[in-house]
Amino acid sequence: MQWGEKMRKRIAVLTSGGDAPGMNAIIRSVVRFACREGFEIWGVEGGYRGLINGELNEIDALTVTNIIHKGGTILYTERCEAFKTEAGQLAAKSTCQKFEIDALIIIGGDGSLTGAMEFADLGVPCIGLPATIDNDVVSSEYSIGFDTATNTAIEMVDKLRDTTQSHNRCLVVEVMGRNSGNLALNVAVACGAVAVLVPERDTTESERILIRNIKAYKKAGMHNLLVIVSEGYKNKQLLVELISKEVNCEIRTSVLGYVQRGGTPTSKDRILASQMGELAVELVKNEKLNKVIVAISGEIAAIPLSKVLEPTEKTSANFFELVNNLVNMF
Ligand code: ADP
Ligand code: F6P
Repeated sequence: MQWGEKMRKRIAVLTSGGDAPGMNAIIRSVVRFACREGFEIWGVEGGYRGLINGELNEIDALTVTNIIHKGGTILYTERCEAFKTEAGQLAAKSTCQKFEIDALIIIGGDGSLTGAMEFADLGVPCIGLPATIDNDVVSSEYSIGFDTATNTAIEMVDKLRDTTQSHNRCLVVEVMGRNSGNLALNVAVACGAVAVLVPERDTTESERILIRNIKAYKKAGMHNLLVIVSEGYKNKQLLVELISKEVNCEIRTSVLGYVQRGGTPTSKDRILASQMGELAVELVKNEKLNKVIVAISGEIAAIPLSKVLEPTEKTSANFFELVNNLVNMF
């Protein structure tokens, strides 16, 4: 019998890259729907590293009981440099052949899904699902975990705002996003920040707007000058110096950190994760492989994995406009 010609289909599932709340909900949905179809389902431990090393265990509908509300991932996740090499990918392919895997379901961000695209090119049938708090899988308007992370950050920034207000201070809050400002932009809008600085935007212009806004709000008598900055903003270390040079006010900083990546997923992340998991199994059932599941205009759809790095037609231009009009209003 050839690889892929067994009586029962065998699916493997892994999580890769930075974890995101809702990954467990995807795993649960994939496992449950796979079991309903009578497929065998194997969990790969530790992302691509586990695949290279053959760390797979068979799981079933009961394995995924009591996880829908939990952050993190029961399959563990890692970053694996070896998978970026041909040798690493060939070793991972051998594992898939040895375990007679018919389809591999990969849950992760743009890096993990780029890996999926390359792996599919190597002849291993793959389905990708976007999950990252950075929300930077550009082919999808939404990645699982982003809503939860945004709400977590908002809750903390609201608390920080109380004490900032009492002390009449300026507070610079760093949110996650090494290469992506999506989280910062959303938090800034939702928390009424006076300025937001993101890696995608030119620093000179952003800093000019920042100072202009802080001066204007201070003059208007605002007692909590809240600035949101992405982790990956180039000049973040110099911001306090810059503000104190230009504006006469007490400044504090706060880094929200990894708390943003954990916690119980919101209803949006649980439900969308469940729907995406269902579609992933349906694609395997209908042998529509090498796809990535995306959210476009509120619907989920499957597009070719080869298009995972192509931005959706609906870009974030509208959102930038909202930020410009609402946050950068002075
Ligand atoms: P995320 O998936 O959250 O964006 P990373 O960018 O760190 O996280 O990628 C996670 C893992 O995906 C990497 O450690 C590597 O194993 C794999 N990966 C990332 N980029 C590539 C690539 N260009 N080719 C193959 N594998 C990749
Ligand atoms: O998951 C995405 C992300 O949170 C980025 O925003 C951040 O730069 C990165 O992961 C940091 O993760 P780690 O420290 O685990 O590599």
